[in-house]
Amino acid sequence: MRVTIKFQTGSSAYSGATAALRILFVGDIFGRPGRSIVHERLPELQKQYNVELTVANGENAAGGFGITPQIAEELFELGTDVITTGNHVWDKREIIDYMNSANGNEASLARRVLRPANYPAGTPGFGWYQGRTRSGVDYAVINLQGRVFMTNNDDPFRLADELLKSISAKVILVDFHAEATSEKVALGWHLDGRVTAVFGTHTHVPTADERVLPNGTAVQTDVGMTGPFAGVIGVQKELIVQKFLTNMPSRFEPAADDVRLCGALVECDPATGRASSIERIMLKQE
Ligand SMILES: [Fe+2]
Repeated sequence: MRVTIKFQTGSSAYSGATAALRILFVGDIFGRPGRSIVHERLPELQKQYNVELTVANGENAAGGFGITPQIAEELFELGTDVITTGNHVWDKREIIDYMNSANGNEASLARRVLRPANYPAGTPGFGWYQGRTRSGVDYAVINLQGRVFMTNNDDPFRLADELLKSISAKVILVDFHAEATSEKVALGWHLDGRVTAVFGTHTHVPTADERVLPNGTAVQTDVGMTGPFAGVIGVQKELIVQKFLTNMPSRFEPAADDVRLCGALVECDPATGRASSIERIMLKQE
């Protein structure tokens, strides 16, 4: 039996205006359970909401650690347009050659797998992508990583400012892969009116703060995980509890149960990129 938990928010419902562009962001896909529910639910979700642009964070898609070229292409096959990542991006080393294969090949699928743009100069891969939807709307996706409680990288705030100077699309989505809520909320305000949406990722716990800021940027501090909620942010709970009890090294294995698809749906004006609504979603598989 499948059960759907769908949280309606205070933001306005979809307007139904034909000109509106609907965007789906899928939160961190974790291991096989996460991929399984994406396979099962993503097509119906896209159809139900007439979604034209789908972005997913896939940094935990391969057993909870990293992403492989094969898994990336499976996610593209399922209807994902762009895949973002974060601190686990290099856990599966084969993704490095895959990303490098996109050099000089803008049309390749590999070019649509991003690593955070504020990684050190010379890092393989790309931190942003610009494309066009099936109805001809230009869009850009920027991937950034936070610096609070994470590896120190370049300043994501100023780097976003720089990138925006060279992006011509009006519809711009930002995946801010970060630990601290303060840093994520701050970036939303910093970019308000200059991007369509700032989606927080990494903590795997969805926050109940989705809103459209005054100048038209939709934000949610963390969109949550697409994976097994019966564990501890995706990992078998016994292993993590033992880790906290002993501080001993242990092998992390994905949990299996209570699989959910978490994400956010945003509607915007494709001519201006201004968001009109954001809706938090959580679909449950049983
Ligand atoms: Fe992460």
